[in-house]
Amino acid sequence: MAARRSENPHAIFIPFPLQGHLIPSVLLATKLASKGFTITFVNTESIHHSIAKSLATPDDDIFTKARKAGLDIRYTTVSDGLPVGFDRSLNHDQFMECLLHVSSAHVDELVGNLIKHDPSISCLITDSFHVWPLMISEKYKLVNISFWTEPALILNLYYHLDLLKKNGHYDPLDKCDDIIDYIPGVKSIKPKDTMSYIQATDTDTVSHRIIHKALFGGTKSADFVVCNTIQELEPHTLLSLNQTQPFYAIGPIFPNEFTQELVSTSLWSQQDCSSWLDNKPIKSVLYVSFGSYAHTTKHVLSEIACGLLESGISFVWALRPDIVSSNDTALPLGFEEQVKDQGLIVPWCNQKAVLSHPSIGGFLTHCGWNSVLESIWCEVPMICFPLLTDQFTNRKLVVDDWKIGINLCEGDLVKREEVTNKFKDLMNGEKSQEMRIEIKKTKRTLENALAKGGSSQRNFDQFVDEVKVKIDQMK
Ligand code: UDX
Repeated sequence: MAARRSENPHAIFIPFPLQGHLIPSVLLATKLASKGFTITFVNTESIHHSIAKSLATPDDDIFTKARKAGLDIRYTTVSDGLPVGFDRSLNHDQFMECLLHVSSAHVDELVGNLIKHDPSISCLITDSFHVWPLMISEKYKLVNISFWTEPALILNLYYHLDLLKKNGHYDPLDKCDDIIDYIPGVKSIKPKDTMSYIQATDTDTVSHRIIHKALFGGTKSADFVVCNTIQELEPHTLLSLNQTQPFYAIGPIFPNEFTQELVSTSLWSQQDCSSWLDNKPIKSVLYVSFGSYAHTTKHVLSEIACGLLESGISFVWALRPDIVSSNDTALPLGFEEQVKDQGLIVPWCNQKAVLSHPSIGGFLTHCGWNSVLESIWCEVPMICFPLLTDQFTNRKLVVDDWKIGINLCEGDLVKREEVTNKFKDLMNGEKSQEMRIEIKKTKRTLENALAKGGSSQRNFDQFVDEVKVKIDQMK
């Protein structure tokens, strides 16, 4: 029988089945494998199917290339409880209910079988939003490692829901507009800058129930939490989190070759934008994307489209077909024809390749955390239009704390005239130069963190060493 080894630990890695969680999870898995871990990576059948569909030549095992490069990563799939063809984007709540109530039974069965065939498995690495890791890790006596893919500030705010409730900032009955200045590690934050789930009036949605169960019934008790953030960007929050449990800032987690994937993670086919961008002057193009998950209204998109047209600024717009939650066309009638010399509209692209193209000068973003990190890495200042969840808080970090972006508007009242003016400000205005200087500095902070002896590298090494000690203790 294979013994549990701490020298080359074997971990099962189960990401949350959404694009923005999958990408950093695969990158963390390969980073750990480069450090000597054996990883068994588990995608849901639905995610596996979407990746396969997006590829010109579908691959049954997305880690084949990584294995050829010498990494010990095995791959398998698990059901999330729904049929593969079910539209999870249009039926969000039903999908989330399944992740809350049904997926654990499938994961339990899978983990049991994996361990039966390979008793050397010693760790479980899961996205912090999963609701079952504590139960599974206790049942199979595995080291429980939680992966938090968002800024540390977000987890810190969630961890203090009790304080927020006590002070009237998280409760529909007695909502309070005062500045929040009582959370350990957070100097101050306005209620409008907290996550959409804290601002919500209905706090009994399936997302709230997942947050409660996953964070309080799991992540808070995990043996380790690793986070895709950078110590120097969130020093006070990290100090505070570290007092409650072992917490490691190891970001940004990027591939060795920034624009090239060793492992396919895209859920949709990527349209190549490079030849279109090659013909544009340096820093002249605005890139527009609202990420992989959130929806918005036709009205919002129409105001942004008209603002873009009026600004005359060249643009690439990655516009997901499901962005408006219906089968309706998202853009105003005739818009694509009107802008055919000004803009390129694609359903999905290789965002890292687009952002790192020299012609890109600004990014209209929903402030998903991956997009923020990628934009910093490419030194592209942002214009922020958050839609959901952590994106409001990420905007505060980008605009107020780090000064590397501007707001598109207050709230969701987008007006085309304001859009035109803000786009011009971002691309060429006075503030634009200041932001370009700041984002260069922020990029340097990221580079230093990843360099030999830098904070993220040190934290990662320490994390790996401590996991090995824990495995030995659990033998
Ligand atoms: C949500 C949350 O808001 C985010 O903070 C969390 O960490 C993940 O889930 P999401 O909408 O997925 O965000 O956005 P983001 O975090 O920016 O991730 C999107 C990823 O998709 C990025 O890595 C981006 O490079 C990639 N992408 C996006 C593409 O490759 N092509 C596109 O056309 C658009």
